[in-house]
Amino acid sequence: MHNVDIGLVEMTLDVMKYAINRITNESPELGAPRKEEELKSMVGETITPLGIGGEKAFHLFRDVLVKATVPIDHPRHLAFVPAAPTRAAVMFDLVTSASSIHGAYWMEGAGGIFCENEAMKWLVTLTGMPEGAFGVFTSGGTAANLSSIVTAREYWRENKLNLNKKGCIITSVGAHSSIRAMAKVIDADVLLVETDDLMTAEALEEKINSLDKNTMERVFAVVATGGTTNAGIVDDLEGIAAICKELNLWFHVDAAYGGGALAADSVRHLFKGIEKADSITIDPHKWLFSPYDCGAVIYRNPELAKTAHSQEGSYLDIINDPGAHGFNPSDYQIQLTRRLRGLPLWYSLATHGTNKYKWAVERGIELASLAGELISSRPDLELIRPPSLSCVLFRRKGWSEDDYKNWTYTNHREGLALVTPSKWKTKEGFETVARFCFINPDTTEEDIKIILDTMN
Ligand SMILES: Cc1ncc(COP(=O)(O)O)c(C=O)c1O
Repeated sequence: MHNVDIGLVEMTLDVMKYAINRITNESPELGAPRKEEELKSMVGETITPLGIGGEKAFHLFRDVLVKATVPIDHPRHLAFVPAAPTRAAVMFDLVTSASSIHGAYWMEGAGGIFCENEAMKWLVTLTGMPEGAFGVFTSGGTAANLSSIVTAREYWRENKLNLNKKGCIITSVGAHSSIRAMAKVIDADVLLVETDDLMTAEALEEKINSLDKNTMERVFAVVATGGTTNAGIVDDLEGIAAICKELNLWFHVDAAYGGGALAADSVRHLFKGIEKADSITIDPHKWLFSPYDCGAVIYRNPELAKTAHSQEGSYLDIINDPGAHGFNPSDYQIQLTRRLRGLPLWYSLATHGTNKYKWAVERGIELASLAGELISSRPDLELIRPPSLSCVLFRRKGWSEDDYKNWTYTNHREGLALVTPSKWKTKEGFETVARFCFINPDTTEEDIKIILDTMN
């Protein structure tokens, strides 16, 4: 299995040929899912006692299975939060795998962790956090949010009076579902600030004032959003930071999606106050053009994260020995063994320079604004709210929820686009609406028109 032989050489050539074709393909086929039984009947048994052979397995993947997937970088993939890793980053993802580096400890991963840390320094600069702030790359925004919430909770419990209390987090209804999910993981309660738009300091204050003393004593953190996933709305970070400071609450900003926009001069002002956060989540695999998976968590005081997360064990003692000493990413987030998932970002940043990153993020914002103009110019369509960051919410007048669903499925089935509906709260309840999220700078005005034409 581990031998180097002619079979391995042939497999390597097959894989490299595929990788080169895929990486250079500017319009990859927009695949669609099939039922599991259907896939099974197309590929048969693949895991057998004797193995089916690398060539056969590879051909099944290339000719059948990958076609049942959606390329995240398709220029007309505007659903959820798409992604558009640079080709340099994807190439370096291959290099990261081929290099087999353990990314948890400096002792094993020094050279690679050095690269990650160089990329991290740039991310920290974007936030404007003070000297000493630093972070690590995680498997995504969920893991970054969990890592910060655990840090916040452990810090709160340093006060012995809080040891036996169930913690409580305040966030807004617009916050990403991972905040509620991660609160469940740590058995904390979540209180939601009801907002139609951004979470303002006033709305947060009102929520806090409505709490009884016992509940308020359990609140240890406020989570604001730096770019809601649905609409790209940035909370009033400056105002929320002031309240957190006054009440001694941990201030976390979930900018998993919107964090990339910190690089864009045109919208940077929306994030004023983010530099006062105790922790920030930013996903390079969303709007900083890294391949999956790559999230990041940044702490104002990384030592607090270390207290919360560093693991101990006799076999681990050596990594903290002066002879091995260096920065151990495992100390600052929930995971021990980890891939050097920040390496592709480092290589791409080093290759292209940060100005190109600025340009590419600005392009997503421009595309959203362009889509807004095109929508406003069509009588059947109507913006729900002005585009924000790279998100656009709009309605097709007269459409029901089923119409939106059929539109999604038809476009997907025909290999034209992946655009999915969302919901928007109105006075009457939740309305089904259409949503675009632009990440890929290769998306064109023509792509947007083609999609809008399918709503005629
Ligand atoms: C604001 C926000 N936070 C957290 C997440 C979760 O990130 P991930 O899917 O990388 O775990 C997302 C994902 O879309 C998000 O938009």
